[in-house]
Amino acid sequence: MAEAVKLISPNFADIFTPNIEIGEFPDGDSHVRIPLIGECKDREVVVFHRLYPRQNTSLVALLLILDSLKEIGAKHVSVVAPYLPYSRQDKKKLNGEVASAYVICNLLARAGCDKLISFDCHFLNKEGPAKFGELNIENISMGKVLVEHAKDAAFLGEGCEVISPDMGANYLVKEHGGKSYKKVRKEYEGDKIHYRDVGEMDGDFDVKGRNVLLLDDMISTGATMIRALEKLTEAGAKKICCAATHGLFLYNCVDKIKKFTDCVYSTDTIVNDNAKVSVKQKLTDFGATQPTLF
Ligand code: R5P
Repeated sequence: MAEAVKLISPNFADIFTPNIEIGEFPDGDSHVRIPLIGECKDREVVVFHRLYPRQNTSLVALLLILDSLKEIGAKHVSVVAPYLPYSRQDKKKLNGEVASAYVICNLLARAGCDKLISFDCHFLNKEGPAKFGELNIENISMGKVLVEHAKDAAFLGEGCEVISPDMGANYLVKEHGGKSYKKVRKEYEGDKIHYRDVGEMDGDFDVKGRNVLLLDDMISTGATMIRALEKLTEAGAKKICCAATHGLFLYNCVDKIKKFTDCVYSTDTIVNDNAKVSVKQKLTDFGATQPTLF
């Protein structure tokens, strides 16, 4: 069976050599050119394209790519997008609010994405194949790799506690003790309808004198990590590392985290200065299980 055609977006250039051109017209519209499009007819195709930062523009570029592949008659299209934006809004809290996670997944499926390969997707709580809305997803977890990095490279040692600051990320720490804080978000306040602050964080763990890895699927504003850091510091933890698969690191939160610990890192699902662990090996290992994919 022929190997899949690999289409690499320029925003994947840190891992593979790009062969798609993506630019912008003067008014901001996206311009996409796929020089290898002729080779995609009747072939399996894998598109490597990050969807963050500039998630709206990146999503449109992906829709343009998918439509071109549909038009040429590609046989099976997989998309490797290490971080899926909009994945946090999978529920409706307010009347008329859009559950955008479903919309984005459905849009991708209808545009011709037969499978999305993504890492620690927020609305999934285990590794492996899943279906969300109309989209087939392969969820790959970086949990184990992040824990190994903490133990070796960040010198927390084998006996460190591994705790998630949120129940949603419990599956990342399950194999390593499974302790998780129970975080409650506050209600929407005032005109801040796009963000709910971190409220209570329940959980008292005996960490006095112990090294601790705090592990979550993402660090966005950092509010979750900072609340958990306060609790662990109060409880007398020795050395603490903060790690997440996706490092968005908004609002200079690394500086705020560094008031508690210098050890903060993520993977490179999103390119950032604190990415200490690459998804490349995991992608290669996954590719090895898919006879025609990579
Ligand atoms: C929550 O549900 C997630 O697992 C993360 O805890 C959360 O998204 C992190 O967001 P922030 O950094 O803004 O607290």
